[in-house]
Amino acid sequence: MDRYRARRDKLRSNVKRKGVDTLLVSSFTNVTYLTGFTGDDSFLLIRSDGDTILSDPRYTTQLGEECPGVDLYIRPPGVSMFKAIEKIVKAIKIRRLAIEGDSMTVGLRDQMAAKMPKIELVSIAGLVEQLRQVKDKHEIAEIRQAIWYAEKGFGVLRATLKPEKTEKQVADELEHEMRKFGARAAAFPTIAAAGSRAALPHAKATGAPIGDSDFLLVDWGARGGLYLSDLTRVLVTGRLSPKFQRVYAVVLDAQLAAIAAIRPGIPAQDIDAVARNKIKDAGFGRYFGHGLGHGIGLDVHEGPRLNSSSKTVLKAGMVITVEPGIYLPGWGGVRIEDDVLVTRGGHEVLSGLAKGYEEAVVG
Ligand code: GLY
Ligand code: MN
Ligand code: MN
Repeated sequence: MDRYRARRDKLRSNVKRKGVDTLLVSSFTNVTYLTGFTGDDSFLLIRSDGDTILSDPRYTTQLGEECPGVDLYIRPPGVSMFKAIEKIVKAIKIRRLAIEGDSMTVGLRDQMAAKMPKIELVSIAGLVEQLRQVKDKHEIAEIRQAIWYAEKGFGVLRATLKPEKTEKQVADELEHEMRKFGARAAAFPTIAAAGSRAALPHAKATGAPIGDSDFLLVDWGARGGLYLSDLTRVLVTGRLSPKFQRVYAVVLDAQLAAIAAIRPGIPAQDIDAVARNKIKDAGFGRYFGHGLGHGIGLDVHEGPRLNSSSKTVLKAGMVITVEPGIYLPGWGGVRIEDDVLVTRGGHEVLSGLAKGYEEAVVG
């Protein structure tokens, strides 16, 4: 049985456990996960006796190539997604329909409720996302590949960094290099933040030259096939000041301690606490204003979340980022981010770029 079919069957039984027989999957990413179809604008109906993709004629050929064997309902031009849903759902004569509360628009839900009053809509959220948290070997191989592209691209960036380059040039060139190595795209808009701009955890790369800024924070990732990587390094482009060394050492210590604690069976919030306590004990607690990390996969941010309230228990096969940071307004920030696989015996750090502060010095 192909792996997509196995995922749909697992989902089918999870849906049944919620007391519903049929689920309309409206998140395009979830449709990809469940079928291998990489296009947009398509829904998937999971029924007790089979599955149907609702799409449109732009994708007929692609659907045949990417997910042969899955039933298709190709809505003709001029037939809205709602009309397609109405036709197919009325034909199977169901009383209850589960919908994905996280992705279906309120407009579509209201339209369904008004025009299909006999069908009870049951909003469920996170069923597919829960399955996506634990990766199989194909997904892990794709994430490894996405990390490889990101790291190769970063190697070129590091070797060609010059003060006259702007943040945006650095970001654009890094994305181009990753593509030259084989990546399909950047995983998200690359962050390149020089000096005080590194105090903004999600800074946009600007037209300002790196110039004589003492350091440059780069947060980047690649999309290999479908799966993503997400890394952060800080490069020292100027003076290696005692303050930078201090902040860097605290962040690195927090990151290494958190990674060391990763193993199956531990709640994600405990991993967050390891890093947060290290940073707090060093006196920088209020300058670490985000969660420790998140799952990566088809989306750059997916489950499990690693933060102070996340009760998710880590399982072998999860791939998570570990990215503590300290951000000092007006001065700058340091974040170090790696991608880590939870294994049966503990963990494996999938990304391998050096991160000692001596190695952060460029030139
Ligand atoms: N690149 C976004 C993040 O690290 O979460
Ligand atoms: Mn990142
Ligand atoms: Mn991240």
